[in-house]
Amino acid sequence: MKLLVLNGPNLNLLGIREPEIYGKKTYADLVCAVKKECRRRGIGVKILQSNSEAVLVTMIQKAYKKYDGLIFNPAAYTHTSVALLDAIKAVGIPTVEVHLSEVSKREEFRKISYVGLAAKKTIAGKGIDGYLEAVAYFDSVTSGALKS
Ligand code: DQA
Repeated sequence: MKLLVLNGPNLNLLGIREPEIYGKKTYADLVCAVKKECRRRGIGVKILQSNSEAVLVTMIQKAYKKYDGLIFNPAAYTHTSVALLDAIKAVGIPTVEVHLSEVSKREEFRKISYVGLAAKKTIAGKGIDGYLEAVAYFDSVTSGALKS
């Protein structure tokens, strides 16, 4: 199995950025934790980040037929981007939406998620562990599929 992990704008500033909301761990810590979890489970993974909506759309388009699952934290684009929603629907890659913070308990505008409309599952409010839970989800779905 091969997973693509995509992170949207400002997630490269983890550790610096509003640590009371997003925690003190850095983006490098996130990358390290996800790679370690995937290695432990024998899953291939590529992890990318961009501050640009257009670049994220292109990354999703390029993932077509190359990945079995997408773990996506679209960050602020979660709440605005029909283009990212359409890109996920276009390539048909099973997607888990992840947010570090509990978006449902923050400002009203953060309660809307366009990407979530195409996601199999949304995990929020668990920090970096949310990404690891998403990896575990894909692992369980795949092993379940093999068994049946
Ligand atoms: C976020 C939540 C978004 O509302 C915010 O714009 C982000 C990060 C999260 O991981 O909690 O940039 O996606």
